[in-house]
Amino acid sequence: RALIVDFGSQVTQLIARRLRESGVYCEVHPYNRANADFVKDYGPRAIILSGSPHSTSWEDSPRADPYLFEAGVPVLGICYGEQTMCAQLGGRVETSDHREFGRADIQIVAESPLLKGLGEVGDTERVWMSHGDRVMAAPEGFHVIATSPGAPFAAIADEARQFYGVQFHPEVVHTPRGALLLKNFTHGIAGMKGDWTMAAFKDEAIARIREQVGKGRVICGLSGGVDSAVAAVLIHEAIGDQLVCVFVDTGLMRHGEAEEVVTLFREHYNIPLVAADEGERFLSALDGIDDPEKKRKTIGKLFIDVFEEKAKLAGGADFLAQGTLYPDVIESVSFDGGPSVTIKSHHNVGGLPARMNMKLVEPLRELFKDEVRALGRELGLPEAFVGRHPFPGPGLGIRIPGAVTKEKADILRAADRIYIEEIKKEGLYDVIWQAFAVLLPVRTVGVMGDERTYDSVLALRAVTSVDGMTADYFPFDHDFLGRVATRIINEVRGVNRVVYDVTSKPPGTIEWE
Ligand code: XMP
Repeated sequence: RALIVDFGSQVTQLIARRLRESGVYCEVHPYNRANADFVKDYGPRAIILSGSPHSTSWEDSPRADPYLFEAGVPVLGICYGEQTMCAQLGGRVETSDHREFGRADIQIVAESPLLKGLGEVGDTERVWMSHGDRVMAAPEGFHVIATSPGAPFAAIADEARQFYGVQFHPEVVHTPRGALLLKNFTHGIAGMKGDWTMAAFKDEAIARIREQVGKGRVICGLSGGVDSAVAAVLIHEAIGDQLVCVFVDTGLMRHGEAEEVVTLFREHYNIPLVAADEGERFLSALDGIDDPEKKRKTIGKLFIDVFEEKAKLAGGADFLAQGTLYPDVIESVSFDGGPSVTIKSHHNVGGLPARMNMKLVEPLRELFKDEVRALGRELGLPEAFVGRHPFPGPGLGIRIPGAVTKEKADILRAADRIYIEEIKKEGLYDVIWQAFAVLLPVRTVGVMGDERTYDSVLALRAVTSVDGMTADYFPFDHDFLGRVATRIINEVRGVNRVVYDVTSKPPGTIEWE
């Protein structure tokens, strides 16, 4: 297995993802945990040092444990990883005013197993750079294997010790042959076989859950979405009836969702489930609140209160399970001093008050959405459930800008149902990452029959994405949009105008709030 040492880059997990895609099992551990004892115990066949928002020139900036370079294991440093490796092994790193961010071309200047299949000496290769500092002198034993005007030490190698460094990010899709470079490192240089699969992940995750939980009881909140369902089924497979699930219907669910969850868990899996219909409580807590963060916090807080009540009813537990995914972790957590900021308070992360006094079980924390789906299939969840579009914890509450009411939630549910039905009919559901309607707090004038109407505007959103972190709007054809608009206006009272959102992420986010 491989070890990824994390220095806090926003894209560290993408390294893990690329490795998993090439069949290599790996774990990401923070730099300050990856010391000699840890590494001896873990026994990596390959070590990758991640990027970082820090600069090696800052006081107290993170360093790799010196043992990482003494373990006799191949090491690849990426961006900051290359810089700290150079700084620690006797090279020189410089803070340059000339920050390099975005696409760049590197030129291959020497043969190396790391660049096998990328090109011949003299060829150029497209890569993604994102750095302020750069290496100005490599440590003894290293030579340059690729260079660029902005990064003279774009790729370096010490073939004898099997130490490699790249200034660019091979883990992002903007480095088209980055995955090949990583594979050259793990398979070619480190000699790993690449025979790891999602079935193996499942077994390892089950073993880890058993080890963490022991004889303890675990409680899991189901949101109706794929993530919490997969987490619950996985945990149930690990510890059986030491798991109890709680499903809180917030009144902000999609059409038919509550019934579906209850049926799936009680009948299909026979997993103990406490289901509570709490729509009225959520709506009255949201009464008059129109600020998006306030809404998220209100829903999140009440959810925890209700959850706590239900957990007590269910007999209490030692652990709380959550279907937190990697993008949730990274968009909600700020690395100390780093550039990563809180964009939205995701209601499934970090909202758990210490008063519940439960430890967290988060078996999906390292995974991206499509990997969770693959795991769900591995666990035998029905395809219709696994393939479902993501749904945010705060539900329809953040798809109704302005104050939320039951009436608005009902209108939105009805319109959303028609929209999704039409998308399915068109065979587009699975190519779209997420599609939903948003009920705007704007009324406009229309005419139906001979009557003047003065009703709400509904916005339709549909995006494609790989992991939810970036997204493009979906290019529906106009006939389709026209058909959906007509059906919604004819069938849903309270909506007399439909618009389509053509914003990508960034600069937009997927949800409107
Ligand atoms: P944004 O709107 O931030 O959404 O571009 C990215 C993805 O995350 C979902 N999302 C959430 N999921 N709890 C969740 O479990 C939340 O609080 C939350 N907010 C947004 C969103 O639907 C999209 O798939």
